[in-house]
Amino acid sequence: MDVISVIRTKRDRGRLTDEQIDWVIDAYTRGEVADEQMSALAMAILLNGMDRAEIARWTAAMIASGERMEFSSLPRPTADKHSTGGVGDKITLPLAPLVAACGAAVPQLSGRGLGHTGGTLDKLESIPGWRALLSNDEMMGVLRDVGAVICAAGDGLAPADKKLYALRDVTGTVEAIPLIASSIMSKKIAEGTGSLVLDVKVGSGAFMKTVADARELATTMVGLGTDHGVRTVALLTDMSTPLGLTAGNALEVRESVEVLAGGGPADVVELTLALAREMLDAAGLPDADPAKALRDGTAMDHWRRMISAQGGDPDAPLPVARERHVVTAPATGVLTGLDAYAVGVAAWRLGAGRSRKEDPVQAGAGVELHAKPGDQVTAGRPLLTLHTDTPERFDYALQALDGAVTVAPAGTPFTPRPIVLERIG
Ligand code: URA
Repeated sequence: MDVISVIRTKRDRGRLTDEQIDWVIDAYTRGEVADEQMSALAMAILLNGMDRAEIARWTAAMIASGERMEFSSLPRPTADKHSTGGVGDKITLPLAPLVAACGAAVPQLSGRGLGHTGGTLDKLESIPGWRALLSNDEMMGVLRDVGAVICAAGDGLAPADKKLYALRDVTGTVEAIPLIASSIMSKKIAEGTGSLVLDVKVGSGAFMKTVADARELATTMVGLGTDHGVRTVALLTDMSTPLGLTAGNALEVRESVEVLAGGGPADVVELTLALAREMLDAAGLPDADPAKALRDGTAMDHWRRMISAQGGDPDAPLPVARERHVVTAPATGVLTGLDAYAVGVAAWRLGAGRSRKEDPVQAGAGVELHAKPGDQVTAGRPLLTLHTDTPERFDYALQALDGAVTVAPAGTPFTPRPIVLERIG
């Protein structure tokens, strides 16, 4: 087999055969196919697409590039959740201990933020002592003792995706539905979860800007999961405005703890409960009551045990940024828009995110919202607070927020977008 004929097939809008797909993924993982050749193929896939059978084979080949985990020795059914990424999306933090408190085991392999979207591991690392890197044995131990673990995927899981994702990130080939679907699902299937709920974000702060694109991605991923024996459902959820009132690592941990204590912003609570119900249903526990587990403190108890089991101190004060800057409302009236992408870029520029994988992040940096779309605001009163250790970044962050806020005259009717837009599966 030679790589140039594989590239030419896709360049000329042909179908890749099973043999071509198996060979190219294996040869790329071993270093026999070079990065420049794989990036040409990724671009041909982005431009010309893949059919369902090609995507299924591509996903299977990426799973076969590494190890598969297995949880059948656990006494509880496994359930996992994956979000395609958004701004202020801290849902995994309250969700994993909540679902564990309701009787499922949650093996949550998570990632770091890149660009304007935050990463679960970066958020949790703002808790003093907490460790994202666990051996497979440690991971199983936390899962068995607590019922939930949130950690980094080991190097052995879908190594073809690790290489290919890093390559796509620097070659403008991330936004291809076949490549996103196979990337996410190869990791989730190799992880070995019995059931999976996908939170596919739609809107300015998400990869998928339209419901039609999000629906296609969700349908593709649900099909891949189902074909591999993983009970999979997807919710399309709104990402036109940030989730909750915070975007930034320690700020989001604080808000997640508020949710676990029975408070927190209404949209975060609503989405946490909606995803928890889907996960428990998919895991065969439809009678569990996640709202009760939030109210009666059992979810909080699981959070504290999960954080402690990974070396963190759940009682330690969270880091706070050294400097703050308040942005005031530009007019009096109804806040009708607060753009998710703009807030995400501002948080990133303040130091909450990274531009390159090896960059450090600031634990305390980010954006705090004092109002949500639909709220009344008053000209000159605080609307956002920007947090950073590096105040020279304030101007750069403020540029990102240019045009992000819309205020309509008081009394203008406003219908908020529902959080859950559609269910697929
Ligand atoms: N997340 C992934 O894991 N892979 C993608 O391709 C996009 C988002």
